[in-house]
Parts: sequence; C-alpha cells; structure tokens
Amino acid sequence: MARIGLLTGGGDCPGLNAVIRGIVRQGIGEYGHEFVGLRHGWAGILGGETVELGPESISGLLPRGGTILGSSRTNPYREGGGGTAAVTAGMEALGIEAIIAIGGEDTLGVATKLAADDVPVIGVPKTIDNDLAGTDYTFGFDTAVQVASDAIDRLHTTAESHDRVIVVEVMGRHAGWIACSAGIAGGAHAILVPEHPFDLETVCSQIQSRHARGRKYSIVVASEGAVPKDGSLTARADDVDEFGHPRLGGIGAWLEHEIERVTGYETRMVVLGHVQRGGTPTAYDRILATRYGVEAIDAYSRGERGMMVALHGTKITTVPLADALAEPKLLDPALYRTAEVFFG
Ligand code: F6P
Repeated sequence: MARIGLLTGGGDCPGLNAVIRGIVRQGIGEYGHEFVGLRHGWAGILGGETVELGPESISGLLPRGGTILGSSRTNPYREGGGGTAAVTAGMEALGIEAIIAIGGEDTLGVATKLAADDVPVIGVPKTIDNDLAGTDYTFGFDTAVQVASDAIDRLHTTAESHDRVIVVEVMGRHAGWIACSAGIAGGAHAILVPEHPFDLETVCSQIQSRHARGRKYSIVVASEGAVPKDGSLTARADDVDEFGHPRLGGIGAWLEHEIERVTGYETRMVVLGHVQRGGTPTAYDRILATRYGVEAIDAYSRGERGMMVALHGTKITTVPLADALAEPKLLDPALYRTAEVFFG
C-alpha cells in the first residue's frame, strides 16, 4: 500500500477525468493505495495545494471533460523553480511516495527528469495533438478529430451555398495529426501541416482547378503550426509559456487574406481553437483513458518506475519515459499521402 500523488499538467484534454477514475478505482480496490490529487499540475506539488481522492470523488467522472484537478503549464525546472529538490520536498511534506503524471511532452518531460533523479514516477500520455512518441495514440486526440470533422461537415454546406473558400484552423503545434485526420474524415480539398511547409501558389491552383471543374467552393484545413515555404512566422513571439513554447495562431487569418488575394475567390476562415479540447470524450477516448489509468497503477504496483503507459496496436503496455520523450511523433507520411489523393 502506498500514498500516491496524481496530477494533470499542460493543456487539458477530454479523457483526463476518466484516467483519474481508472487509477483511483483500481488503486484502492485492488491494492489499497491512497491517492492525493495535486492541483494545477506541477504547481500542486510545489505549493502543496491538494485534494484527497477517494471512491466518492471519482463518481460521475467518466464522461466529464476537463480535469477535476485543474491544470497548468508550471515547470519546476524553469529558472528559480527549484527542480528535483523542490518536488521531493513537496512529496515529503505531503507524505507521498510516488507521482503519477498525466500530461504531454512538457509535463512528462518533467517526469522524465525526475525519473532520472530516481524519483518514483509513472507517466500517462495525454495530448489532443497525438504527437507523443512511444504510443500509437494519446487519449483526447480522437475527440478533437471528431469535433473538427463535425465542424468541417457543417462548413461544407455553407461554403457551397456561397461559393466560398473556407479555411479551418485546427490545433497541432508541431504535428499535423488533427489536421490530416479531420481533413480526411471531413473531405478537405487541401490540408496544411507543420511537417510539409506549403507553397501558397500550389494551394491556390488546387482550389482554382476545382472551380474550373465547376466545384466552386473549397475547404482548406490548416494546423496552427503550418508554415508557408517562404518561412513567414505566425507565432506570437511575445507570449511564451514556462516551457518556452510561443503561443501559436494566425495561419488561418493569413490564409484567408492570401487565398482571396491570389484567386479572387471570396474566402472566410474559422479557428476551432479550444473547442477541440473541451467537452465530453468520445467512447474511444473514454476506453483508452480508462485502460491507461488502470495500467498506470498496475505498472506502479508491480514495481515499474520511470515508465509511461502506451498503446501498441491493440495492446496496452509500458515504455521508458525517456524513450517516449526523446523526439515528438510527427505525422505518418503514409496518412498524408492518402489525404493528398483528394486534394484539389
Ligand atoms: O498542446 C496541446 C495544445 O492544445 C496545442 O495544440 C496548442 O498549441 C496549445 O495546447 C494551446 O495551449 P493554451 O491552452 O495554453 O492556449
């Protein structure tokens, strides 16, 4: 039996509560562990803001979006953050033996550093962007793709009614998983992703060739991290988080202006933004999050440390955190080639 801290860090994501539910239910029922919720990511361990997690606290959590623990992008390894010593001091003060961290590259990056210093941690991979290596899918991604696909379906009919081009900006900082998947599901006529800097003239000629065939409307899906080949920046460099990531956004507005200028076709843009992260998880994400939660506490209880739960094919397994965090998982080129079949 152990007393374990749970935290959710980084951008929130549908399925976080389902993971918490899985960990607590299995951890109490099977092993008799105790759980302490650390509020707002790593800030909870540094500031000692906590909530006890018992059987009552997980009731009704499965379909609930967001995270009951709150989240933040606090980084204990930022300058003056205290690093490993500050985290272990927090653990001691709270009587916690281990931490299960549910997060993406930044939150699990912190977990990886702690593991290297022999702090007992287990990671659970979360991000709607699906850009974490070591696992086939992160939970939250399926929900984001569903939200974006639904939006694209709706945009088709209004674009067609007005003979317009509509640009849909979706999330995806380093990787185009959401754009490519939602674009395929939604029948996009061009998909712009960070992995393939785009040529504006090519995008415009794809749209023009549709118009020449009598299809006088087009849907262009762009990741927030998509960049034109000439390298124009879209990040707001003045707004950087504790992990050094600039706040993205702006590619949709840029494309709206440029596509209309080059083609002369009336163009509108929509930024889906945080709508993709909010609300109830899909059934797929509820199941994946539940499997991750149960496996995280099983792995801890059989003595694993410094590991991240992962999906490989249809099987849940664990991989070293250090391996999973080494490189981001970029869009599968084969998936993009499939999407390209339908461009123009
Ligand atoms: O990392 C997930 C993500 O949703 C990215 O796609 C996006 O760039 C970022 O978070 C937005 O973060 P914030 O909620 O801090 O604006």
